Amino acid sequence: MQDIKRLIEDSREMSRRSFFSIAGWGAFTVGSAIALWESLGPPPVGKNGVDGSGGFLNPNVLYEDPAAFKAGLPTDYALGSTTVLTDKRVVINRDPNGFYAISLICTHLGCTPRYFSDVTSDLVTQGISGIRDPDTRQVANKANPILPGFKCPCHGSRYFRDAINFFGPAPRPMDRVSVELGRDGRLLIDRSVVVDRNFRLKA
Ligand code: FES
Repeated sequence: MQDIKRLIEDSREMSRRSFFSIAGWGAFTVGSAIALWESLGPPPVGKNGVDGSGGFLNPNVLYEDPAAFKAGLPTDYALGSTTVLTDKRVVINRDPNGFYAISLICTHLGCTPRYFSDVTSDLVTQGISGIRDPDTRQVANKANPILPGFKCPCHGSRYFRDAINFFGPAPRPMDRVSVELGRDGRLLIDRSVVVDRNFRLKA
């Protein structure tokens, strides 16, 4: 009788141990699976591209185009030319007194203005007067209605070729950004450096 009681006690003890052992392994497996997902999972992309909760092997790094880039030799640009680098959102102008670069970002709300050989004649036809570039002193009027420049597709702001705003909601000229000569003799543009609008690179 004593032996039977002991046998029953032993068997209960074994069942209890098995239960805790299985529960322990279950928790371990679930924890490992979560850790693995955190490590390998892709970074969730939020409104701004990243929401800060990515995996260790997929860090939240924005692979943006570098601000500085090479833009060929000075001789690649004709005198008086306007070269629009759409993918860089930069314009390179070459005038008799040198090079300058414009950040092609509308100062109203940041859209990308487009270059046109005529941004004034329709305004002159409408009878709008006083279209005058304060820097170049060029004037659009009935005698000379056509001036080149930029129009913003979003809300209609207009800029002269040298980035001075003259029509629409843009509050100020587009920024001029750094252009220098690199050691290899090529133009080096740095969009992160805003320069004075009188700056010119002699090259
Ligand atoms: S963003 Fe260019 S006019 Fe509004």
